[in-house]
This record gives sequence, structure tokens and C-alpha cells, in this order.
Amino acid sequence: RIVYVNGSYLPEEDATISIFDRGFIFGDGIYEVSAVIGGKLVDCEAHLTRLERSCGEIRLALPWSKAELVAIHEELIKRNNLDEGGIYLQVSRGASDREFAFPKDVKPTLVMFTQARNFVNAPTVKTGIKVVSMPDLRWARRDIKSVNLLAPVLAKQFAAENGAQETWLTEDGVVTEGASSTAWIVKGKTLITRPLSNKVLPGITRKAVLAFLDESGFTLEERAFTLDEALEAEEAFITSATSLVMPVTTIDNHTIHNGAPGPAALRLREIYVDFAR
Ligand code: PDD
Repeated sequence: RIVYVNGSYLPEEDATISIFDRGFIFGDGIYEVSAVIGGKLVDCEAHLTRLERSCGEIRLALPWSKAELVAIHEELIKRNNLDEGGIYLQVSRGASDREFAFPKDVKPTLVMFTQARNFVNAPTVKTGIKVVSMPDLRWARRDIKSVNLLAPVLAKQFAAENGAQETWLTEDGVVTEGASSTAWIVKGKTLITRPLSNKVLPGITRKAVLAFLDESGFTLEERAFTLDEALEAEEAFITSATSLVMPVTTIDNHTIHNGAPGPAALRLREIYVDFAR
């Protein structure tokens, strides 16, 4: 694999960053994951807008324009002959002797790499995924896509150990979101998902799905829902750059929609894949 690090395209085994990098030492950095489908970037502009916002919120001045970042994405697709998969981008505040406060004259570190994956024909589309739940242990600014991912790592490990693919995080009885996805439930023709706030990441896939509401025939109720409500829901699904729209068929061992992917998730997925192609 050819990866990108600070201006160079290198074989992954030759790519290095400093042990003093603040992304590594403090988690002082921001990331994005965008999808590539049919060799084409999906909604990259929106991911880069969120990157700029996240960096602004932690006062990390990005020296690259969106156009420059898109060009690096495109170059990685080309050099890796990537047809379908993800592109991971991480920017940290840079490398400097360990001091908590921002160092002076530090240059951000930019790392990008590709991961070839099957998103459109993921085997879980046919079965739906299993979701488990646990308390949301993350910090108070989940709207910032920070590289501090210890709580989601533990949440995903909990899912893996329970034969599930995602963990829904709960706080005061309500579902905040998935460890790495936006959580949705369906009642009749109504989609229910949390409104944006500091409690959740503003999902780019969420935003795309909301733009298709008219076409899909569903309406939106933007509100928090409880885990109990989700267990009783007619349907549930998640959205993210890498899962696209993915039906959920069990939550904490409760069967949702008779254990089969539901029509809302499948219809929205179809519209989203059309858009992504
Ligand atoms: N995760 N919520 C959280 C906490 C996330 O980490 C993600 C994405 C989402 C969905 O956002 P989007 O639709 O923009 O992908 C919601 C990425 C895929 C990851 O960490 O791998």
C-alpha cells in the first residue's frame, strides 16, 4: 500500500512519524474517514468541511486547502488502484517536546491511507447487524471528530466479544449514537434520530440521508430516543461513511423487525448507493 505522510507518498513500511507527535502522545488531533465507491470519492467535500470545523474547534490551523486535500485523496486512489474502500485522514498538532499547552512553531502532521473494503456488497446487508449497548463513556465534545477513541475502542471490543458489529452508547437512558455510526429507529413512515449537538458527531451520511427524505417517502422526527423505545421499534439502522446505511436486526438480543432487514433501511441504502456511485 502507498500511504501519504507529510507531503510524501511512500510504501507503508517506509512511512514514519515522530514519537513526540501530539496525536500519539495526547490524542491532540482530528480525523476523517471517507468512502470510495467505484474509484470515486463519496461526499468528500462534506467530510473536509467537517474536518475544518473540528480543527477550528481545537484551534488547529490547517495549512492545506480543501482542494489540496482532495488532490491527495485522488492521488492515493490512483496509486493504490482503489476501487472500493475507505480513506483515513489524520491531522495532529504536530511533534514537539511533551508539554500540554500548544507548542509554538509546530507544524501539523498529516497522514492518510487507504483501506480496500467491500461496502456496497457487505455481507451484513442481507442479515442486518447485531447491536449491543453500554454506557457512553466519552467526553463532552463528541461533535469534534477527535482521534481520542479509547471509549469507542472499548465499546467495539464489547460488541466483538458479544458477536455484535456495533455498540449503541447510552446516557440517562437515551441512545446517543453508535461507537462509530449514527443511530436511527423507525416508526411507521417516521425516521427518528437525535438532533445535532455536542453529544453526537454530525454524521455526513446522516446529512445525506436527510437530503433524500422526500424521495424516500419518509418523514423525520429529530429527537433523542431511549434504548427501551429502540427495543420496541419497528426497524432500526445505522449510518456512517463505511457502513453506508446498514439495517440493525438485533439490539441487546431483542429481535428487531423479525430479524430481517427492514424496508426503510433498505430503501435508504438503495438511494444512498445511487448517490454515492
Ligand atoms: N465513524 N458517530 C460517530 C461517533 C462516528 O465515529 C461516526 C463515523 C459517525 C458517522 O459519521 P459519518 O456518517 O460522517 O461517517 C457517527 C467513522 C466511519 C470511523 O470512525 O471509522
